[in-house]
Amino acid sequence: MSARPSRRVDQARLWQRHEAMARLGATASGGVNRPALSDEDVAACRLLIRWGEAIGMQASRDVAGNVFLRLQGSDAAAAPVLSGSHLDSQPTGGKYDGVYGVLAALEACEAIVESGGRPRRSIDVVAWMNEEGSRFAPGMMGSAVFAGARSLADIGASVDNGGESVAGALARVATAMADVRLRPLGGSVHAYVEAHIEQGPLLERMGKTIGVVSGIQGKRTFRVSVVGEAAHAGTSRRAERRDALLAAVDMVKALAGRMHDPQDIVKFTVGQFTVTPNAPSVVPSAVSFSIDLRHPDSMLLRQLGDAIEGLCREAAGPCEVRVQELSTAMSLEFPSGMRQCIEAAAARLGLPHTELHSAAGHDARYLHGICPSGMVFIPCHLGITHNEAESITPEDATAGARVLADVLAELADRSA
Ligand code: GLV
Ligand code: MN
Ligand code: MN
Repeated sequence: MSARPSRRVDQARLWQRHEAMARLGATASGGVNRPALSDEDVAACRLLIRWGEAIGMQASRDVAGNVFLRLQGSDAAAAPVLSGSHLDSQPTGGKYDGVYGVLAALEACEAIVESGGRPRRSIDVVAWMNEEGSRFAPGMMGSAVFAGARSLADIGASVDNGGESVAGALARVATAMADVRLRPLGGSVHAYVEAHIEQGPLLERMGKTIGVVSGIQGKRTFRVSVVGEAAHAGTSRRAERRDALLAAVDMVKALAGRMHDPQDIVKFTVGQFTVTPNAPSVVPSAVSFSIDLRHPDSMLLRQLGDAIEGLCREAAGPCEVRVQELSTAMSLEFPSGMRQCIEAAAARLGLPHTELHSAAGHDARYLHGICPSGMVFIPCHLGITHNEAESITPEDATAGARVLADVLAELADRSA
């Protein structure tokens, strides 16, 4: 390849594709609800495949539900460069979280095709299965299985609120996408680059267009199951009740107190709370709640996470409690070579840029375990995200895709 493909990135095309994707699972309040492995998620993968095939890319999928589009390189034996993110969303999600990284990668490939060059290495655009972890916990399942960090059997057992397992949903989606070639799971990867909206306010506040991501803060997730006993709300005596909801509330209060950090660096969230039987006149017999705990310092994250089970036991009263850790991910730093490559591309394009650490989690975490990985951030208005009001500008989206196009072209031409 010779000429840099960034000049062929097409803002109108990139923006129209975001609008088309946002119609799949659109909510009344302007956001998106596209659960992993749902019909809307499959429709989004299909639309992506249609766009990729129109420019000669080859579609494939793997047994973990990841979807790929390959821009064939001249050296078929060379390990490919991967770029993408996810198409699933939170239940009241925005239009750009995840989608942007997939569409920016597709736009980068289209720009490479239009600039007339053929990369040495193939470039795979990828949509990872279930990054969000809201329908099936925990998240980042597709990238974790691809990278060998989790097994298919392990993710397959996760069940959604309606009782469907990941294994069942994957089988349904495999049937719906039977016409798309199945590729072997995993494989060697030369490098991975993920573009994403920042999901924080820093770039906008600093007046920077591009964030060169230095790393990702650590995160541990848990499920706490509290078991009491169902009883009549009018007749059962307080001393005899085993109210799972009151015990769970005490646990959450104790945990929030222990995790309270005046500097606001510890992030502690109970985002899901399920009460059984969830009836007004029945003392709750069981409660299950989620914990999402994050901190950039791995040692502190370890200490705080390890305190959770003891605090829950102390607050359990007459109920039983089980604390299950669903995922453990320590803080990571991306390799300096990848950061320099992204930084140099932004500088050549004259785009205001800065390094920053990611407070949100991304599939790049798992790719980091198997190949040199990096991330490109673009601003996200006021940092509003995991929210239907999430907003970015077409200009920033284009700037990020231009950086990505040059970075992917450069990585795909490298011999080692
Ligand atoms: C990703 O969606 C995260 O929760 O960090
Ligand atoms: Mn995301
Ligand atoms: Mn997200």
